[in-house]
Amino acid sequence: MSRHAEPRPSDARPFDMVVIGATGDLARRKLFPALYNLHQQGRLPAGRIFAAARQEGGRDGYLKATEEAARENMPAAEFFPEVWRAFSERVDYLQLDATDPESYEGLAEQMAGYRERARVFYLATPPNLYGDISQAIEDAGLITRETRIVLEKPIGHDLESAQTINDEVGRNFEENQIYRIDHYLGKETVQNLMALRFSNVLFEPLWSSEQIDHVQITVAETLGVEGRGGYYDKSGALRDMVQNHLLQLLCLTAMEPPARNDQDLIRGEKIKVLRSLRPISSLEEVARKTVRAQYRAGVISPHSVPGYLEEEGIDPRSTTETFVAIKAEIDNWRWSGVPFYLRTGKRLAHRVSEIVIQFRQVPHLLFADQAALMQENRLIIRLQPDESIKLGLMIKVPGSKMLLKRVFLNLNLADAYAGQRAPLAYERLLMDVIRGNATLFMHRDEVEEARKWCEPILDGWVERDDRVRAYAAGTWGPSESIALLERDGRSWYEQLA
Ligand code: BG6
Repeated sequence: MSRHAEPRPSDARPFDMVVIGATGDLARRKLFPALYNLHQQGRLPAGRIFAAARQEGGRDGYLKATEEAARENMPAAEFFPEVWRAFSERVDYLQLDATDPESYEGLAEQMAGYRERARVFYLATPPNLYGDISQAIEDAGLITRETRIVLEKPIGHDLESAQTINDEVGRNFEENQIYRIDHYLGKETVQNLMALRFSNVLFEPLWSSEQIDHVQITVAETLGVEGRGGYYDKSGALRDMVQNHLLQLLCLTAMEPPARNDQDLIRGEKIKVLRSLRPISSLEEVARKTVRAQYRAGVISPHSVPGYLEEEGIDPRSTTETFVAIKAEIDNWRWSGVPFYLRTGKRLAHRVSEIVIQFRQVPHLLFADQAALMQENRLIIRLQPDESIKLGLMIKVPGSKMLLKRVFLNLNLADAYAGQRAPLAYERLLMDVIRGNATLFMHRDEVEEARKWCEPILDGWVERDDRVRAYAAGTWGPSESIALLERDGRSWYEQLA
């Protein structure tokens, strides 16, 4: 089928979706392009989309601006103007004061008679409004059994505000109606991690402290704060990336096999991992096991880029971290003694997200004269920029001598998909919301447990009042990050080939 063929009817039930905060960046750059792609591929079931925002202005103006943003944020080859026109027929614009129940009257009229449809409220608004908006939706009588509410991160600023938001939204919606987005869970390779672990007999027997020396999880970006200075400066890399994306990757790597492919069982296993994370609570541990740093001016080839403190919207005295490295430990039978080194940062040398499973050395060296060449087996699961799974093995170099060399079995997922386009994270997640499958969304307990673990680290940084370290843009972070692993006789995997 050509990319541009007539849409096929989808198997999912019809839906109504209300995007609240529809003029914001997220809605325009991510949600509407994702909805358009789903429509274009015929995967979006019959349904209506209500774009709701405070701003006055009609539907035409809204659609024009949204189309422009979609064009800017999508590959040109995926944008077909006539398909966009057909897609936009499904979209209506509503001027709405989202926290005022009376403001929903028009919407309630349009939705009356559609109670059996999947009804989705997508809150692309600041999180401090989640409680009031959910109350207004309830007061306007719009919650049916088939209603779901989607919450974007961050859920609050700290544990207390996260609990407050969860309580407030929980007053009007059941937990199984609340979809907390972590877009990393929608990435194809992240789901592949579960397929790899639980559909192959090879890995599971090796997946423990008996055979694994340590795990590294790196999410490196070359981008800076990209006009989001106001949000980012209050947030920092630990809140923005570690407590959600990196801990989710850690959970999927470390969790026990669930009994069934069931949302509650899978989320339950992840929660157990979060509860087993060893707290990093004393100031001494914070100093020994964490590194925080901020980028200075540097070069992201081929451009010179300013330092964090020179970025728009950043307080020039800010101590907010744009880089974090942490030695995490999991206190359970499977992982006792296996560190999980986490690292993320903005303006680093390359854009790459990877999980590296470093196996132990063989117990006895048969080729003792080759000891210096021996390298441990290593499984590298790359999420981006390209998706691949690589397994590092030792082989013999051809010739008469027994010389060893490390090679990679390399599975490039783009080749394995044989030309099939993997859905973007938001496409996958939006379809899951419409279908009512919450597996790839965070349970309240996941959000709160992750915050509980991160909170003492944040407090420790404030209490120690030590200098935030510096790194030049375009490098792999500060030297303290290298030292974090060197102290344990290890090093970061940075082979990008
Ligand atoms: C977001 C963060 O959740 O993830 C951003 O708020 C970050 O700061 C982004 O840039 C990274 O996502 P991705 O999919 O580009 O790796």
